[in-house]
Amino acid sequence: MNKFYLTTPIYYVNANPHIGHAYTNVICDCLARFRRMRGEKVFFLTGSDEHGEKIQQAALKEGLDVDDFIGGKVEIFRQLWKKLGLSHDFFVRTSWPEHKRVVKGIIEKLYQNGDIYKSRYSAFYCVGCETFWTKVQLDQQGNCPECGRISEQISEENYFFKLSKYESWFKDYLEKNPDFIKPRIRYNEVKKFLEGHPLTDLCVSRPKKRISWGISLPIDEDYIVYVWFDALINYISGIGYGSDQEKFNTFWPADVHYIGKDILRHHAVFWPIMLKAMGLELPRCIFAHGWWKIEEEKMSKSKGNIVNPFNLIDQLSGLMGGNQEMAADAFRYFLMREIPAGLDGNFSLRALIGRINSDLANDLGNLVYRSLNMACKYAQGKVESTSRQVPPEFEKSLMNLEENYGFLAQEGNFFKALDYLFEFIRRINKYIEEVKPWNLNKEKKEKQLAHFLYSICEGIKIVSFYLYPVMPKASLSIQRQLGIDSKTFSLKQARWGMTDVFQIKKEKPLFPRIDVN
Ligand code: MSP
Repeated sequence: MNKFYLTTPIYYVNANPHIGHAYTNVICDCLARFRRMRGEKVFFLTGSDEHGEKIQQAALKEGLDVDDFIGGKVEIFRQLWKKLGLSHDFFVRTSWPEHKRVVKGIIEKLYQNGDIYKSRYSAFYCVGCETFWTKVQLDQQGNCPECGRISEQISEENYFFKLSKYESWFKDYLEKNPDFIKPRIRYNEVKKFLEGHPLTDLCVSRPKKRISWGISLPIDEDYIVYVWFDALINYISGIGYGSDQEKFNTFWPADVHYIGKDILRHHAVFWPIMLKAMGLELPRCIFAHGWWKIEEEKMSKSKGNIVNPFNLIDQLSGLMGGNQEMAADAFRYFLMREIPAGLDGNFSLRALIGRINSDLANDLGNLVYRSLNMACKYAQGKVESTSRQVPPEFEKSLMNLEENYGFLAQEGNFFKALDYLFEFIRRINKYIEEVKPWNLNKEKKEKQLAHFLYSICEGIKIVSFYLYPVMPKASLSIQRQLGIDSKTFSLKQARWGMTDVFQIKKEKPLFPRIDVN
């Protein structure tokens, strides 16, 4: 059985989750569900990044003890993942004693190997990005080149990790492995960065006299570990590195680390070099997705345009007759369908409602509702397999779906995979219009009517499987209504003609049309 290990970034818990965080986790959840459905042994890791200056400052600002502050925020993240129906296998926290033990062990080992050393340092630090910059890297105003905020100048003794020692090895590795970083524009970005900047060693400590919230540096108690060095290690501590060797060996190396494009350098330069120095294999791929803008503007606290996924789902649910689960599924669908992974996207409530109305209410919801109505009306809710032939009208779109969905979904390209699925959905809708079953009924063409009913039920059943990774709750509801009980979802069940009888149990329309004035 193939294994598949995928991770999300671990989120800073200084603020509440927003649509960007939801996006990464939803892509990973869709991918994890798809891979499980294909029979792979999946491990899906997410978690929280709880150290660093930013978090300490946020707790202070709210007048809270840092532990209490973090506990509250972590709970909010967990609740969001629950609300979005995420199926992660583990939630790793950097405050977890096991993680701290692993980080300390790695620092000790790298120090013994001579890869970590002490030196005086002069640099600029951006607390917002928790990143060091050299003077030449700052923007024209002398601020952080990433977020434009003021960086503080720091000159102190610190510990350094020898990135420079591995530079030529890493450049060579990148040259030979162009799929290590995806999409290609991000691979080129990293290569360009390396061409333009000889790698300087990475500062991996902060003196406790300035910041105390973090993991103590085991080789010098006056320091704590730099938050990024600590955080990246979650990807191995979270699967048992140094404690559960069997589990670690089963899942490492990661098959994909999903991240946003802003944290590319940390993942695609620092992390592989850290692993090399530790003598571990490199992840197979780092995938950097784009950013969501809001009504074409960058999302920021100062603009007051941060989209809170909790409020959004509640609002949607209100518009959809109070169905929280379908609202969460509709939001997941929108995130996957609106932008191709890798590119930036624009969020607006208008676009979200537009998608729900056109794709979910009109195409999918309508198909399920009217088909099951017909099954009840013309066959008293019991649809049997009198003939299992695929209607010729379905052949092309069904074949396209079967041939293309898999390789697109396995790359996390649900944007395109859903295209094929909805093409099939629209084809079944068209088939209904073409066959006009009401006439078959009037004319007492029983055999044709039975084949028609079986075909649309079988088509909808197939739709429900392909829908499952992106909209698990809607998929389950469709299967319940068709009277099929898939205890486990497997792609093998998504084949034509495998059902003997559909025993219909109609529910309310899946996605009502949302009226907006
Ligand atoms: N804690 C670090 C990650 C450590 S992983 C070892 C961190 N946390 S974060 O909470 O600031 O950001 C997490 C992720 O959210 C990043 O991947 C970032 O790209 C993503 N996003 C932040 N704003 C975003 C959008 N507007 N749109 C999409 N993703 C966005 O960085």
